[in-house]
Amino acid sequence: MILSRPRSHRISKPQRKQKDFERLSKLNVRSLDQKYLARDSDPKDIEVVKTSGSFVFDANGKRYIDFVMGWCVGNLGWGLDPIKNKLKSFKGPDYVTPSMLYKRWAELANLLADITPGNLKKSFRATGGTEAVEVALNAAISHTKRIKFVSIDGCYHGDSLATMSLSSDFPKGGKNSLLDCKRIKPPLDKKATGELERVLQKKDVAAFIMEPIICNLGVLIPDSDFMKSAQQLCRKYGSLLIMDEVATGFGRTGKLFASEHYDLEPDILCLAKAITGGYAALGATVTTEEVAKSVEYYYSTYGWHPLSVEAAIANVQYWLKHRDRIEENTNSMSEYFSERLENMPFKSAPNIRIKGLAIGINFHGDENYGSKIVETAEKKGLLLSESENGFTLFPALNIERAVAEEGLTLLEESL
Ligand SMILES: Cc1ncc(COP(=O)(O)O)c(C=O)c1O
Repeated sequence: MILSRPRSHRISKPQRKQKDFERLSKLNVRSLDQKYLARDSDPKDIEVVKTSGSFVFDANGKRYIDFVMGWCVGNLGWGLDPIKNKLKSFKGPDYVTPSMLYKRWAELANLLADITPGNLKKSFRATGGTEAVEVALNAAISHTKRIKFVSIDGCYHGDSLATMSLSSDFPKGGKNSLLDCKRIKPPLDKKATGELERVLQKKDVAAFIMEPIICNLGVLIPDSDFMKSAQQLCRKYGSLLIMDEVATGFGRTGKLFASEHYDLEPDILCLAKAITGGYAALGATVTTEEVAKSVEYYYSTYGWHPLSVEAAIANVQYWLKHRDRIEENTNSMSEYFSERLENMPFKSAPNIRIKGLAIGINFHGDENYGSKIVETAEKKGLLLSESENGFTLFPALNIERAVAEEGLTLLEESL
């Protein structure tokens, strides 16, 4: 007698369709991606299925040590329980309309006012880094009634037309029509200070914007004197100082905010990425009270979605509780990375720049060497991020010594 399978094991037609879809999409993830996802370059051959601590796992079960952490997003490692649990147990509203009151918005803004440097007090809600910078530009124009900007040559502040206009990388053929922008060429030293003053003294610049440690230029570390003068010159000539800490914020450079390395008091601070540790999209433009008052028009439908706010609050609270321990680990791991990297047998002479766990390495006269290392390391199970003539490393700030050691050994074997 043939016994029919118990009903619970039977797969219904819709279930079978779902299973087929899952199987197909798994088998053809690259071709599906190619067909339907708009990208500016080919993705890596890593289909991510799991993240944990300093590790990323792909669909074939391969484990990678992550020295990128989503490019300054997962600063506290993937899978941080206090944030994950907050999101799981959230019982608040599905959504809050911007014109209404929401206690958790006010609480997050209060926390940001407490932890950010200088007189920063009011937060504009944003969904990510680009929007946070857009709002900063809008606020600077509204406050100063000027439209010109100064930035750093080759900088990156986002992908919108205005933020791209700050960079020298505006797409070919496009016209830099949104902003009149002058760019200061690195190195950021005495000569650059003179150049900055020549531009600002015309008193028609709304703001000078930069990253305090420039992660987007392979971790370029400006001279301390340049940064201090930038602050003074902005004040002297009536321009605002905007610090874009989308990448450096939340401990990346060894301090909660990189502006603290120079005792800066920016008029506007842009935050995103690590503000939620990777659990939800959120950006913030934190300004002084006077700057905030000048802004006449501002709206963001999804800025500070309730779930994102929970993640951000949990992250900030975690920082407040464990700040000393995280900064200590960042700084001791920074020394360890520095020591290991200085002693690695690179084929070409490296230029190594390290601030906290923001690490940039590039090679003069050997353009492909960096990308070859990144490629080989990936095959060996180590994730690095390519940069101009080299690569960057942004490991988790709470990385364990044994994992750092293993990753650096994989790097050494990739040279
Ligand atoms: C310094 C800086 N500003 C702004 C952005 C844009 O952020 P988002 O990608 O969240 O829009 C980035 C992204 O890498 C960044 O590094």
